[in-house]
Amino acid sequence: MKKRLGQWKRDILMLLDYLSDFKNYQKSNFGNYKNTDIIAMEAKIHRQMHIIEKGMSLSNPRVGFGQEKIKILLEYIDEYIKLGYGNKSKIISQAVGTLKAYLDFFKTQGYKNEQLAQKIETYNVYSDKQNCGVKVLTLEELKKAQHSEFPEFFLSRHSVRQFLDKDVDVSVIRKAVAMAMNSPSACNRQSAKVYVYLNKEINDIIGKDLLEGSGGFSQEVNKYLVITGNYAAFTDSYERNQCIVDASLFAMNLVLALHYYGVGSCLLQASERKELDKKRHELLEIPSNEKIVLFLAIGYYKDEFRVAQSQRKDIQDYLIIK
Ligand SMILES: Cc1cc2nc3c(=O)[nH]c(=O)nc-3n(C[C@H](O)[C@H](O)[C@H](O)COP(=O)(O)O)c2cc1C
Repeated sequence: MKKRLGQWKRDILMLLDYLSDFKNYQKSNFGNYKNTDIIAMEAKIHRQMHIIEKGMSLSNPRVGFGQEKIKILLEYIDEYIKLGYGNKSKIISQAVGTLKAYLDFFKTQGYKNEQLAQKIETYNVYSDKQNCGVKVLTLEELKKAQHSEFPEFFLSRHSVRQFLDKDVDVSVIRKAVAMAMNSPSACNRQSAKVYVYLNKEINDIIGKDLLEGSGGFSQEVNKYLVITGNYAAFTDSYERNQCIVDASLFAMNLVLALHYYGVGSCLLQASERKELDKKRHELLEIPSNEKIVLFLAIGYYKDEFRVAQSQRKDIQDYLIIK
């Protein structure tokens, strides 16, 4: 009886903490129309311009793709300026640069969009379009970086959405996972797991039915790795997010380890509504106490390929010295 009472108390405290998380997220997420915080506004623009540059980084982007996405990006830029956050800020320059890079990218294929070109001019902002949109990488450069100093190797990693048609053998994945196992984890509980499916059909199902994030390049993905964290390794309310933290740290190290072994990758969002989450657990035969934290699309690098520039904010946006 004493144990049961203690459990009820713990469950109620947990519920209250989840409710507090809910309240904060409900208020702060940028989908809430009342939220006009600068971070929310910038995140909307970052995400939208990334959709454009990401599209340009695919092997065969459709000429003039994403008109609706561009329209939304322009609306976000206008909203940002209207809110008084300024048209001279870095984000506006990056967004305008991305749109200019988009127009240049398709110009060689005879594409013109006068309306967009004119709209861009109205922002009257300097943009370094050279560093926006996409950049070309070569396997040769990556190989050089692999055997160089840590910063060079570290900075040579990018999310890749074009892959060679060559199988990544499970022995390579095993070596990378063994390296990633050096990741720290809360009290060394090592709750992270990686699922790899050798069956091509399952990988096709993941790309087609279980994920949206690899849309446009799923046909080139050699395998999808599924990274999970197990709730059972944690206790009480105060550890409620730890399995996501542990699995994410593991995932980052796995990405770097794969990169070291010449395998490119792209992390893919796994947060989902409960119906799809259930379907994923069933189809992928993952126990329900394991949270699917991330998918990782992998494949060998091509000799030459494009990646999204994914420009970063300024260091003072990351590092707050008080
Ligand atoms: C949690 C997470 C989810 C992501 N989801 C996707 C996705 O669904 N589709 C995609 O193409 N890229 C996805 N990415 C890759 C990001 O777009 C990429 O990391 C970002 O633009 C920075 O670029 P970089 O990885 O090349 O430095 C995701 C990355 C993370 C960390």
